[in-house]
Amino acid sequence: MFNTETITLSQIDETTAFIRGRISGSPKIAIVLGSGLGGLADAVEDAESIPYNEIPHWPTSTVLGHQGRLVNGKLEGRPALIMQGRAHYYEGYSMAQVTLPVRVFQRMGIETLIVTNAAGAVNPQFEAGDLMLITDHLNLIGMAGANPLRGPNLDTFGPRFPDMSRVYDRELQQLARQAAAEAGVLLREGVYICLAGPSFETPADLRFLRAIGADAVGMSTVPEVTIARHGGTRVLGISGMSNKANLDGNTITTHDEVLAAGRLLVPKMIRVIRGVLRQAGI
Ligand code: HPA
Repeated sequence: MFNTETITLSQIDETTAFIRGRISGSPKIAIVLGSGLGGLADAVEDAESIPYNEIPHWPTSTVLGHQGRLVNGKLEGRPALIMQGRAHYYEGYSMAQVTLPVRVFQRMGIETLIVTNAAGAVNPQFEAGDLMLITDHLNLIGMAGANPLRGPNLDTFGPRFPDMSRVYDRELQQLARQAAAEAGVLLREGVYICLAGPSFETPADLRFLRAIGADAVGMSTVPEVTIARHGGTRVLGISGMSNKANLDGNTITTHDEVLAAGRLLVPKMIRVIRGVLRQAGI
């Protein structure tokens, strides 16, 4: 059977060649849209889109709220390649499959990756509907062994033991703060923690996550960002709080709630991302 635990450079290049043949231009920015946030791709001008299931080796999302297509076009006049939906580890994909899109972006010459996600607010000061600039992350899933860099190192991209001391680009963080301020959008800041999912957390899980320094919890982003940094791609990460974490055990979290909050979050996310793209330096 086809080994999906590791992805080879020739598979990455096969996917890269396919996408290059289907889109025009050479975008330098890629944007990943998380659960319920796909609406942002509707703001793209001159859009060309490719359904994920047509792209060789590309993981297709099975989750409600993830449209599953790659959209190439312009946002604020800047060429951008947008993933409308992403695949997750909990769907049964390997870490190599989940992060293949980022490797392909790197081969295509993408220099900046903007990642978004829907997350649970672990910081008690955060409310559903808030945006959070990711200033750092806790790679709990990676610490537990599921790191996307496990396996033979792809030296073409980066070293065996890559530095992770400044994962989220400081200049891009500053651009996001400015963009949010100009758009009148409250932008919280904090640490995102990635769990495998798909079950939501118990109140005891959440008290643990809070104690170790997490402000928001989700089931994505960190694997993609780890691969991005390994290959030298600059990263900006923004989480949308879809629900308050159930620290006291008195409320329940549902995927419908996550999707409903996404509809509230999209207009804010669009304003901040548009503002970032409008500025020089990206
Ligand atoms: N926990 C984990 N992942 C999530 C949550 C949550 O509460 N909300 C959205 N994604």
